[in-house]
Amino acid sequence: MSRIGVLVSGRGSNLQALLDAQAAGTLGGEVVVVISNHAGVPALERAAKAGVPTVVLERDAFESRKAQHLAICEALVSHNVDIVVLAGFDRILHPEVVRRFQQRILNVHPSLLPAFAGGLHAQADALDYGVKVAGCTVHFVTEEVDAGPIVLQAPVPVLDDDTVESLSARILEEEHRILPEAVRLLAEGRLRIEGRRVRVLPDPLRAD
Ligand code: GRF
Repeated sequence: MSRIGVLVSGRGSNLQALLDAQAAGTLGGEVVVVISNHAGVPALERAAKAGVPTVVLERDAFESRKAQHLAICEALVSHNVDIVVLAGFDRILHPEVVRRFQQRILNVHPSLLPAFAGGLHAQADALDYGVKVAGCTVHFVTEEVDAGPIVLQAPVPVLDDDTVESLSARILEEEHRILPEAVRLLAEGRLRIEGRRVRVLPDPLRAD
């Protein structure tokens, strides 16, 4: 069973989707630690409610971003984490941490990458740009922001009367579906990275 560490910063609805999948037996792994870079956020309450250990490592407690992120890395290592999930983590992970967990870190981003990469307002940017199809992406984390190999994507049509809130809510529903699915595929060893492409290997238990 893969051991999963989740990095969060706020609301934690994607963390909740992972915890719900775990409870339903469909995550293929166990969330063993939730690490937040902010104290007092709802994500920490969600973890505590599910009985998952939490660690808070705020920027102020360290002299540099690098020191903070290396402490995050140590916490992941000390919990014997195999898979790291960035679930609404609002900072760019330090390259040393990315290298330590190479090809084992997933991020969920609320756009169809490579569109609207990089920012914290992808849904508003999609709306402002006037795209007709928005969506979300789960991808491997590499040292380049929002640019790692794509695991799963889900399209979400933009409606004429959409607001940032209504579009974000529909995208979020899809995030909650594809993030646990991507984690399960990684936990089951069914993702093969070939250059920029990620091949999903068939489920060995399904005879079709
Ligand atoms: C999500 O939209 C995610 O795609 C983005 O940050 C948001 C986090 O939401 N990276 P939550 O904390 O999981 O509710």
